Amino acid sequence: MTTQMNETDARPCIFTRACRVVPFIGAAAIVALGAMFLTIGGAHAAGGSVELKERSWSFEAPFGTFDRSALRRGYKVYAEVCAACHSMDLIKFRNLAEPGGPEFTEEEVKVIAADYTIPAEPDDYGDINDRARIPADPFPAPFDNENAARASNGGAYPPDLSMIVKARNGNENYLYSLLTGYEEAPAGTDVPAGMSYNAYFAGHFIAMANPLSEEIVDYEDGAPMTVDQYAKDVTTFLTWASEPTREARHRLGFQVMIFLLVFAGLMYFTMRKVWADAH
Ligand code: HEC
Repeated sequence: MTTQMNETDARPCIFTRACRVVPFIGAAAIVALGAMFLTIGGAHAAGGSVELKERSWSFEAPFGTFDRSALRRGYKVYAEVCAACHSMDLIKFRNLAEPGGPEFTEEEVKVIAADYTIPAEPDDYGDINDRARIPADPFPAPFDNENAARASNGGAYPPDLSMIVKARNGNENYLYSLLTGYEEAPAGTDVPAGMSYNAYFAGHFIAMANPLSEEIVDYEDGAPMTVDQYAKDVTTFLTWASEPTREARHRLGFQVMIFLLVFAGLMYFTMRKVWADAH
């Protein structure tokens, strides 16, 4: 009896009562790890000194998805308004049909792409003509190069919008605030020529005139044609563009968590079985 007691005392941690909680701690740790999959990349940096407007975005929740109609309307706002000055070099027309995005049909994407042209391969005479774009082509850029873009915008450069939501503190809330943040400058503030006053832009003077106004883009699905709605839709679209695999990441995170939970349970019962005789 005494020998047995001593033996028990000398046994490693796995035999003591306190250590029965180990599997639970382990399970909690791996569940936390799974949860990280859901949030990595979705982390939101704090905004600058000005407090940003916050909306509840459908894609923000851990298992959140994009609102398809908002993505499609958002594309329309980008194409009809923002694309006059901003490129989106990382996006190809075919991305518009991929799962997790606006999910236009292949046919719709062909029609959308064919509205734009691109220089074709040299023909038999070596001349380069334009051809209609196809889904595999990238979005067209409004300017040939940065100098041309600056020359048309009073020296300021309209940044590429492919990654803009990730590139700014405050992410989607910053973009939404910026687009709805044009207002009268406070009394006594001189707005330099060619600049506009924006409550959310760093330094407040922005070389982009307010791009949105009521009814500037026609919506066919009955959504309100207001600045607020346009800003919300184009923000949703640009958030998707900055991470087209966001929904897949969320789904994977969920699957990983389920797997880890089941695995933790299996490990717990395996451990009990393996050590059952030792107690
Ligand atoms: C007439 C040209 C023009 C149009 C149209 C336009 N922009 Fe801009 N945009 C600019 C210029 C120029 C800048 C650079 C401003 C600066 O640095 O002061 C800019 C800057 C930006 C920025 C960066 C702000 C920052 O924090 O640096 C964002 C985001 C942006 N535009 C989004 C949009 C969106 C979305 C649309 C469509 C709804 C749009 N723009 C339409 C010219 C334009």
